[in-house]
Amino acid sequence: MNAPTALPNFDVEKIRADFPILTREVYGKPLVFLDSAASAQTPRQVVDVFRDVWENDYANVHRGIHWLSQRCTDRFESAREIVARFIGAPNVEQVIFTKGSTESLNLVAASYGRSTLREGDEILISELEHHSNIIPWQLIAQATGAVIKAIPITDDGQIDLDAYRTLLASGRVKIVAITHVSNALGTVVPLKDEIVPAAHSAGAIVVVDGSQAAPHLKLDVPSLGADFYAFTGHKVYGPNGIGVLWGKAELLDKMPPYQGGGEMIDFVSITDSTYKDPPHRFEAGTPPILEAMALGRAMEYMWELGHDAIQAHEHDLTQYAMARLAAVPEVILHGTAPGKASIVSFTWEGVHAHDVGTIIDRAGVAVRVGHHCAQPLMDRLGVASTARASFGLYNTRGDVDRLVAALDDVRTIFA
Ligand code: ALA
Repeated sequence: MNAPTALPNFDVEKIRADFPILTREVYGKPLVFLDSAASAQTPRQVVDVFRDVWENDYANVHRGIHWLSQRCTDRFESAREIVARFIGAPNVEQVIFTKGSTESLNLVAASYGRSTLREGDEILISELEHHSNIIPWQLIAQATGAVIKAIPITDDGQIDLDAYRTLLASGRVKIVAITHVSNALGTVVPLKDEIVPAAHSAGAIVVVDGSQAAPHLKLDVPSLGADFYAFTGHKVYGPNGIGVLWGKAELLDKMPPYQGGGEMIDFVSITDSTYKDPPHRFEAGTPPILEAMALGRAMEYMWELGHDAIQAHEHDLTQYAMARLAAVPEVILHGTAPGKASIVSFTWEGVHAHDVGTIIDRAGVAVRVGHHCAQPLMDRLGVASTARASFGLYNTRGDVDRLVAALDDVRTIFA
């Protein structure tokens, strides 16, 4: 990723007006929301979709010949087209709606993994992974006899590419499951130039957890070369309960269903069934209808602001936060890779991260503390937990200043 160098004209105060929750007070202080990596806040334009659809166009999708059902189906399928455009997918059949990244990754593991892995095959995951890109592979490894190996990271939080190539040289690696952006450190993984070509040369496919990339990077998923790409709605300013799995058509076409139920079939008898083509083969039951439409609106919202402008704004915030926190003597920064995306993790010398989080919360500053669903990464860093500040398109340098000022209270209390 080329780091944006100039801050374009980005009217963050005008943008903040789209997010009424940002005017909320917490313990009598104006809220500073620095937990967008967990769930980003949702603009009015996206919230409005729910009322609009419920009051005007709501019915079940793909099931009715009546006008309202067809109208709702059209809006639902339009959302799929928007998602395809958002990630640069050439065709909508490659876009599967799920309930989040976790379900997307479980789908790949349970369907592609279970149907292709054999005893002794190897699955590589990195030490950066979120549990949602670890546990599904453990479950499938246990079921198939495949073996999981970890790609180590360097001390600054980057993938150790030499170690990665050595692991691939075993000749037994079938799947590389890896994040695009670390949820705990913000490291951007070099998928296009390093991870994917090396995996493909070794005969492995690449499954990407794009949960923390989709809110921050301009995505052109096919050009990354990966075989599957998963992300979730609630981190891209959309609702929760909706996620996306993109997959290469030639792989999706051959994959068995993940779940069975209504709408994923062609024909059903008591003992046997045939299934629809992707994406519907993988969307059993009534899908998250409104959530998909709201996700589409969230993507349009990001387009309206412009990906380049969002990225430049967030790059500035991240650089500013890293510099300000590095100047606090008790702060230890974790993850200092160049070109990080919108996430800053730190500990305070001698103080548990939960205490740090609780103290600054009283000053109105919301960060996530804990292992961030990345316990193997915490082990690698030699910490039980960190405090994590994560930025969205609505944050400001003033928010970073409030974080640093709130940390003074940690010093006062633990002095
Ligand atoms: N995966 C989310 C996070 O990193 C919840 O906080």
